Amino acid sequence: MPENNKIKKKDITDKIVSLCKRRGFIFQSSEIYGGLNGCYDYGPLGVELLRNVKEVWWKEMTFRENVEGIDASILMHPRVWEASGHVEHFSDPMVDCKECKARFRADQLEESDCGNKGYKGRKAVKCFEEGKFTEARNFNLMFKTFIGPLEESSSIVYLRPETAQGIYVNFNNVKESSRQKLPFGIAQLGKAFRNEINTKNFLYRTREFEQMEMQFFINPAEDLKWFEYWKEERMKWFIRMGMKKEKLRWHVHEKLAHYAKAAVDIEFEFPFGWGEIEGIHNRTDYDLMRHTEFSGKKLEYFDDVTKDRYIPYVIETSAGASRSFYAFLCNAYDEEEVEKENSDGTKSSEIRTVLRLHPLLAPVKAAVFPLVNRDGMQEIAVKITEDLRKKFKVFYDDSGAVGRRYRRQDECGTPFCITVDSETLYDDSVTIRERDSMKQERIHKDRLNEYLNSKLNDN
Ligand code: GAP
Repeated sequence: MPENNKIKKKDITDKIVSLCKRRGFIFQSSEIYGGLNGCYDYGPLGVELLRNVKEVWWKEMTFRENVEGIDASILMHPRVWEASGHVEHFSDPMVDCKECKARFRADQLEESDCGNKGYKGRKAVKCFEEGKFTEARNFNLMFKTFIGPLEESSSIVYLRPETAQGIYVNFNNVKESSRQKLPFGIAQLGKAFRNEINTKNFLYRTREFEQMEMQFFINPAEDLKWFEYWKEERMKWFIRMGMKKEKLRWHVHEKLAHYAKAAVDIEFEFPFGWGEIEGIHNRTDYDLMRHTEFSGKKLEYFDDVTKDRYIPYVIETSAGASRSFYAFLCNAYDEEEVEKENSDGTKSSEIRTVLRLHPLLAPVKAAVFPLVNRDGMQEIAVKITEDLRKKFKVFYDDSGAVGRRYRRQDECGTPFCITVDSETLYDDSVTIRERDSMKQERIHKDRLNEYLNSKLNDN
């Protein structure tokens, strides 16, 4: 990207939101009814990208000797949330503006815009200083519903606000069925729900989202070592998945949650500023102890070598799948000036928009084009598409000029474009164009499978 052509941060958000809709990454939930605040739908490309984020995380975390996976139900016994502290503590202070009726988190007034459109650029904190707000009230973020036909207090259940608790309550089940010895971890990914007072910044803070969490159970004497270990592992993973190092940083918590002894966040520089994408926490024995207390069932570990019996400590790695999805999109978004050949043979320049996603994350791995729709090129390209599709997500396109087709795929983040041209008719070779460098090489069409395989395993 030329220096004088740097994209303005504010514009990037608008451009990413518009690309997400145009190319089918993200749609507003229930759009035809005017949308539902804080909820989004993943379109054809978005669902692939999200699945890939989750898949690479799952492999990274569970393809290890000492980490097992589970998939616990979203609805859990209501006592779980009393034991975890969520019923008591999981709330944000909320205030209402008496003038414009907008609702805010009392601890976020400096960064929130005033709800009255007439006061452009005014921050909510100004209205607070002018005494326009109600007293702060605590608002619990858990969504409540009822199990069974009666809407009474004894049938209240909650939509889980984090996946972690499903892991703690299954500690004995997993330990016994998998015969794991400490230290070992349990990983889970899935939906979580929070009735956020203010949703904002597109996918950053939503009411329904997905988490990717791993709880690592350890001997309490080793907590510092494992906390450091998981911090490093998680940061390295984001970098391996293509995050620019300068867009990541640590944030060390000074004010700790009720369950934590130490907490750090991995922050990403979103277009709106720095924001947490993953938290690594030393949760001590808080959760297992509380569930022991509330359920009456012992959640402990017996070391048959040292003969010690104790409640393990937990090091938690907690990332948002949807928030990481957004971070990966922002990280990948780029615009650059490129040369363009006009139909009369002259050259000019144009801006190409490209999503430089890691090939493992890219929704579509390759696009296949016949250069022109004659001389049997389409048939060859269709055959290549069908062969590759047995293993990879591949897109076939034979409409419009080839340059336009490249641009469309650049915007979708497709790492490779394969073109069948007149040379293919003689020697079965095709061109393969790499998205980021736009370099082309010729390879035999029978080597395409192996080529894509090697690129996708090369990380
Ligand atoms: N079990 C610990 C826990 O849930 P958290 O910091 O509240 O910790 C962990 O959440 C991660 O979940 C965050 O780093 C973020 O990526 C994601 N997350 C939390 N709230 C979110 C929301 N409202 N929308 C999208 N992602 C969210």
